[in-house]
Amino acid sequence: MENKKILVTGGAGYIGSHTLVELSQASYDFVVYDNLVNSSKVAINRVANIIGKDVVFEEGDIRDSKRLVEVFTKYDIDSVIHFAGLKAVGESVEKPLYYYDNNVNGTIKLLEIMKEFNCKKIVFSSSATVYGDPKEMPVTEDMQTGQGITNPYGRSKYMIEEILKDLFISDSSWKIAILRYFNPVGAHESGNIGEDPEGVPNNLMPFISQVAVGKLEKLKVFGGDYPTKDGTGVRDYIHVVDLAEAHVKAVEFLDKNNLDKPLIVNIGTGRGYSVLEMIKAFKKVNQVKVPYDIVNRRAGDVAKIYANPKKAKELLNWEAKRDIEQMCQSSWDWQSKNPRGYSIIDE
Ligand code: NAD
Ligand code: WQD
Repeated sequence: MENKKILVTGGAGYIGSHTLVELSQASYDFVVYDNLVNSSKVAINRVANIIGKDVVFEEGDIRDSKRLVEVFTKYDIDSVIHFAGLKAVGESVEKPLYYYDNNVNGTIKLLEIMKEFNCKKIVFSSSATVYGDPKEMPVTEDMQTGQGITNPYGRSKYMIEEILKDLFISDSSWKIAILRYFNPVGAHESGNIGEDPEGVPNNLMPFISQVAVGKLEKLKVFGGDYPTKDGTGVRDYIHVVDLAEAHVKAVEFLDKNNLDKPLIVNIGTGRGYSVLEMIKAFKKVNQVKVPYDIVNRRAGDVAKIYANPKKAKELLNWEAKRDIEQMCQSSWDWQSKNPRGYSIIDE
């Protein structure tokens, strides 16, 4: 047996890869478990390059119990950071069973094997989407969840939260942290890892970057008639490195504290920016053009959502440090250095 390790499911993905860098800086050992359905081994090589040592990688699916048993047998896994999941909102509407199987069933399989190996510490990637369309702003963790969620992806996150709460009720020796991310954007300062969506991006920031780099012609701004400062949707964008740091704090918290219920925290900045503000900041910071048209609203979008991040500060001693300029600049740095993302053949 080697030293105790953190199993990072989905560690080859966007948020996972950035978290590996922060875990390494905080001297944690980890094993990445990923089936690469939405990521590339190149990201793992890039992380290894940034941290200056090899990354232990085990290819596998969280729904594959046999493979999980192999990995839990091979390494002394002390806790799990569980990023693995599918996240495309539109695709989840078209393929609900695929999403529920992958995200919900996959998480159940993972939890079963964790239990079998008496590994009962987990940090779970949830989402602000569980709040649906909240009436009050900013959003606090005690507000209602599960109502008004507009797609199977979002509901899969809500269901997993409920499963984790029930698991704790059945056995309070579990230590569970549920992090509700707001809108992660940006990239590592090296410009060597970042978000690499397949096909046309669904999310705003990668879309803006791809317009700026000339890969896409024009941005469609979904809706100019929301009851917001300038009529466009308002979100709490959070730098992915800040988000990655929150995971290190969550792991530390679980290590140090006994809990009487799962810890649930918002991970956001507490500031809302509109789509037009994001475009403006991106153009100014990076001195690029981002042509856009204002078009109809996108189905399922809420007008405005941003976090109250106080609980994360109080309990995890975590707060976002990076501003909108750093978010825009690092996104552009990654995009312009890697116009085709990780799809290269010489690594
Ligand atoms: P991502 O797609 O880049 O990373 C997810 C990783 O999980 C990928 O590497 C993928 O290959 C892997 N994966 C998917 N299904 C798997 C399976 N069955 N077995 C093993 N590996 C599997 O996404 P991300 O943006 O890094 O998101 C990470 C987590 O955070 C996801 O659970 C996502 O739902 C959640 N989240 C993301 C956002 C966001 O806007 N990016 C917001 C809130 C929550
Ligand atoms: C942000 C704003 C759009 C694209 C989604 C998921 C959520 C979470 C994060 C995982 C909105 C507008 C966007 C475009 C636009 N993911 N927009 N033109 O919808 O807040 O959240 O990703 O958990 O669950 O729902 O993020 O980046 O898609 O949109 O005008 O081409 O940008 O309308 O106001 P969203 P987003």
